[in-house]
Amino acid sequence: MRRRDFLLSAVGGTLAAFGSFDDILPLNAAGRAEAGDAEIPYGAAVKTELLDVDVQYTDAIKRYCRMIVGEGGLKWADLRPQPETFDFTQADRQLEFADANGMTMRGHTLVWYAAMPDWALNLATPLAAELELVNHIETVLDRYRGRIPSWDVVNEPIADDPSGRDVIRPSVWSEQLGRGYIETSLRTAAEADPNAQLIINDFNFEKPTTQCRRRRAAMIDLLRELKDNGVPLHGLGLQGHLTGASEIDQDGLSRFVEDVNELELDVLVTELDVIDDKLPGNVHVRDQIVASRVKDYLDAITDVVQPKAILTWGISDRYTWVPMWFSRSDGLPNRPLPLDDKYQPKALFSVLQQYTSI
Ligand code: XIL
Repeated sequence: MRRRDFLLSAVGGTLAAFGSFDDILPLNAAGRAEAGDAEIPYGAAVKTELLDVDVQYTDAIKRYCRMIVGEGGLKWADLRPQPETFDFTQADRQLEFADANGMTMRGHTLVWYAAMPDWALNLATPLAAELELVNHIETVLDRYRGRIPSWDVVNEPIADDPSGRDVIRPSVWSEQLGRGYIETSLRTAAEADPNAQLIINDFNFEKPTTQCRRRRAAMIDLLRELKDNGVPLHGLGLQGHLTGASEIDQDGLSRFVEDVNELELDVLVTELDVIDDKLPGNVHVRDQIVASRVKDYLDAITDVVQPKAILTWGISDRYTWVPMWFSRSDGLPNRPLPLDDKYQPKALFSVLQQYTSI
């Protein structure tokens, strides 16, 4: 039985229905909330070039995070500029920062369709693709074995709008190896680091749309198939790039998380933020809606399981990927993250205090 089944829903179309999320809990000297922290570890994606360079940014990461993940650094475009090159500079720096500050680091990501160097996009035979894939995973995990405990092994494997036989997202990997690239990647990762938590990471499961319903079904089918075949897999990462203008399909999301849980897989929230390009410009109104979307999202998940971690994709509105693809037509800056561009906690921060160690 889900906790929400006992509660009255407060969701509605007007701001009044969103309630207020303005009450930031008092912080102790270490900057942690005094009360209400349910102790799901909180973390954020970091930009390597800002660590120990932008002092305010670095302080915010140190103050609020128990985990970090690189926004880049481990992606093929960063790590593999040439076929023969592994450039570990960024990831080493991130790990050094995490270690120096008592944080853990998640690895993002070993296999993705995007952020690929041209040479890898041009792998032209199944044999060449498999050799590169296996060599890549082995080399990266050999280097970080025992030091990066959790990996997004496969990122975004489900097609945008899965239908019929086109359920897996097209990539050089699926073109050359079919859907078997997912199993190969997981088996290779488990052999290279038997203790690592191996995750499949994906987005867009939470809207009340047919597309999201199909995406959830396709993901569950994939996870079940992998488990049935004894493939080493430990959890599903829900990216959580929420669409501010859409309600959360709480029932659909809760049922999805139940299905994942029944497969004995962990759930993590790996890249949380709220895409606010279509929300009202008024900052107060916008921040309340952003906070309420995250509350609805985390309520639906935590009704069923405690996620092993909750990470936002960045920490301050000052540095966010959102305007790369979702800038606002009124020219106002996006506000997708828990701290504003001056590092002041926003309504979203107070929502995260209710669930996490932030
Ligand atoms: C984004 C980064 O934030 C950008 O800086 C980068 O240039 C492009 O990728 N889903 C993911 C992340 O899994 O890797 C993406 O990160 C955001 C969407």
